[in-house]
Amino acid sequence: MAHEDTFVMVKPDGVRRRLVGEVLSRFEAKGLDLHRLEMVLPDRATATAHYAEHEGKPFYDGLIDFIASGPVVVMHWSGESAVTVARALVGATDPAVALPGTIRGDFGLEVGENIVHGSDSPASAARELGLWFG
Ligand code: RTP
Ligand code: MG
Repeated sequence: MAHEDTFVMVKPDGVRRRLVGEVLSRFEAKGLDLHRLEMVLPDRATATAHYAEHEGKPFYDGLIDFIASGPVVVMHWSGESAVTVARALVGATDPAVALPGTIRGDFGLEVGENIVHGSDSPASAARELGLWFG
């Protein structure tokens, strides 16, 4: 167990569906600490860098189009095991199989519109916090 920082983003579908408050309240209720929060319209360069690990996969172009399709809300959270805790709150990648009680499990059905992103490791968190917050 260790104190960690992590990066969380409400994706364009989550903003369009007015789920920002829902996401925030779940992270706050869990006990994580919010440090930074901003709404931004992602440019394609930032979206491409964010998802660089997926370059070349069949869903990659659509994923970049989707992330750049509208405003997102980017957040910096910290706390005990924050990376793992945030991923648990978010739920499995495919909302159709994400467990009820998770954000994706409660609010989604399609893998391409899964509401929220959470860093998958402390190294990813450091990279993504630097990318989005500079
Ligand atoms: P994220 O990075 O967005 O938090 O999602 P994740 O870790 O749960 O999943 P990841 O494997 O990193 O995939 C990134 C995003 O790509 C889309 N995806 N589509 N059609 C597909 O098979 C497929 N697989 C992944 C999803 O929108 C996923 O969030
Ligand atoms: Mg991921």
